[in-house]
Amino acid sequence: MGLGTWAWGNQFLWGYDESMDSELQEVFNLAVSSGVTLFDTADSYGTGRLNGRSEELLGRFIREYPGPARVRDGVLIATKLAAYPWRLTPGQFVKAVRGSLRRLGREQLALGQLHWSAARYAPLQERALWDGLAAMYEQGLVKAVGVSNYGPQQLERIHTYLERRSIPLASAQVQFSLISRGPQQMETKTLCDQLGIQLIAYSPLGLGMLTGKYEVGRALPKGPRSLLFRQILPGLAPLLEELRSVAAARGKTPSQVAINWCIAQGTIPIPGAKTLANVRDNIGALGWRLSAAEVGALSEAADAAPRGMIQNIFQTR
Ligand SMILES: NC(=O)c1ccc[n+]([C@@H]2O[C@H](COP(=O)([O-])OP(=O)(O)OC[C@H]3O[C@@H](n4cnc5c(N)ncnc54)[C@H](OP(=O)(O)O)[C@@H]3O)[C@@H](O)[C@H]2O)c1
Repeated sequence: MGLGTWAWGNQFLWGYDESMDSELQEVFNLAVSSGVTLFDTADSYGTGRLNGRSEELLGRFIREYPGPARVRDGVLIATKLAAYPWRLTPGQFVKAVRGSLRRLGREQLALGQLHWSAARYAPLQERALWDGLAAMYEQGLVKAVGVSNYGPQQLERIHTYLERRSIPLASAQVQFSLISRGPQQMETKTLCDQLGIQLIAYSPLGLGMLTGKYEVGRALPKGPRSLLFRQILPGLAPLLEELRSVAAARGKTPSQVAINWCIAQGTIPIPGAKTLANVRDNIGALGWRLSAAEVGALSEAADAAPRGMIQNIFQTR
């Protein structure tokens, strides 16, 4: 797998409208022609009038990709199936993936992921979701299965459960970046390494805070990110300075360095990109590697930040 970067879903929350579709298609085309092979989406990305929109557009962009067919055919789709409260049986979960396949125009997906765990509030549903994940794998609807927002304890439980059915747990997607690298993330990474699970790092740019383009006292993004940025950004000055310093010495950008830090940890980062400038920049994170000393200096600067990212409310232990 290459750098996964279909980072779409949140954009619906951050001001997506249909007038963006043509640029998004160009973003997709540029990413694919530059060697990006993995695109992450979810059946919950797009609600109300935009229900299922992310998967539908991704399916359309793949079909209309203007480059060579062998490149188009190499695109891997990872979708996430929501643990909605009305998905109470394995059959309902399998039906959900069939809906994703229809919207994406595929017969099989590279990776079907359980978007979050219901363990903390509905343990019985959790078991049904695991059985649903197993069923979609056994029916050949997905080539591999993974989870998202699982902490180490719950991750080990589902790994053991699936192992008894001879189903490998391929991936664990968690929020992971220079500002989301607390003990839980690191424990998850260690466990993934022990069990042969690939960690997928979501929000590797800290929703944009690690790009260096946002600064206290200057324009911040509107919407849900605004409050978060006002809380976290003031403490990130030493980290942003280190990112800029490493970037300058390497002839790279802070975003490329922040993404490369995730790659250096052995994760597959899935940065969000909604403009051509974003995707061009993020692709520059590939094909080189930070030294151990640079990784250490960045991690140390990150330690100095008084606050990191707030964890997803569905994240389990
Ligand atoms: N499993 C889960 O529960 C979960 C949760 C969240 C995300 N995800 C996945 O992870 C993907 C990425 O996460 P994310 O979008 O939340 O966070 P992110 O990748 O950390 O940040 C993406 C945002 O940063 C800005 N940006 C990206 N590249 C840039 C560049 N080169 N220069 C300047 N700004 C740049 C863009 O926003 P602005 O230009 O508006 O600043 C973009 O929307 C999602 O699309 C989704 O696939 C999964």
